[in-house]
Amino acid sequence: MAVLPIRFVGDPVLRKQCRQLSPEELASDETQSFIDDLVQTMRHAKGAGLAAPQVGNPVAIAAVCIEDNPRYPYKPNFPLTVFVNPVITVLSDERRSLYEGCLSVPDLRGRVQRDMHIRVEAVDRHGAPMSFEVRGLTAGTFQHEFDHLVGMLFIDRVTDSSTFCNWANFDLFHREIFVAEAESIVAEFGS
Ligand code: NI
Repeated sequence: MAVLPIRFVGDPVLRKQCRQLSPEELASDETQSFIDDLVQTMRHAKGAGLAAPQVGNPVAIAAVCIEDNPRYPYKPNFPLTVFVNPVITVLSDERRSLYEGCLSVPDLRGRVQRDMHIRVEAVDRHGAPMSFEVRGLTAGTFQHEFDHLVGMLFIDRVTDSSTFCNWANFDLFHREIFVAEAESIVAEFGS
């Protein structure tokens, strides 16, 4: 396994519509080894998720894992989930705005609206179909990773550009309200 270099905003690979994988391609040693590297890179970077184009491979594979993440202490845990060729369906018109950031957009955060109740349909790394519903902050994390697979970054979804801030100013001016908002989402939506 290897920790792969993360691609940053401005790299054209982050703007590609990612290719769907056939069952044969997913089962290949090459893809399975890539998935191991993707997960290891996510853990090394302490990300809540990571998508294949962020390590330079424009294929429809992403991972989410939230385990007592020190970068996101307010986020409920969610077990390691690798999802391939995903489709997201919005199940409610409840949306909330929350600060987001991205490993591919270093030292920048901004307010993004996310749907609070979605269904994720995909296959797992072994090609088995998966379908599950996620809510609240976890739903936001899945939408963020899904966006990477269609060439979108959170910065594209920031409707009020005055909310952009670096981490130092986030901590100084916005963290307190953000944590209160995140906790109220957890209270309302359960995750
Ligand atoms: Ni990201």
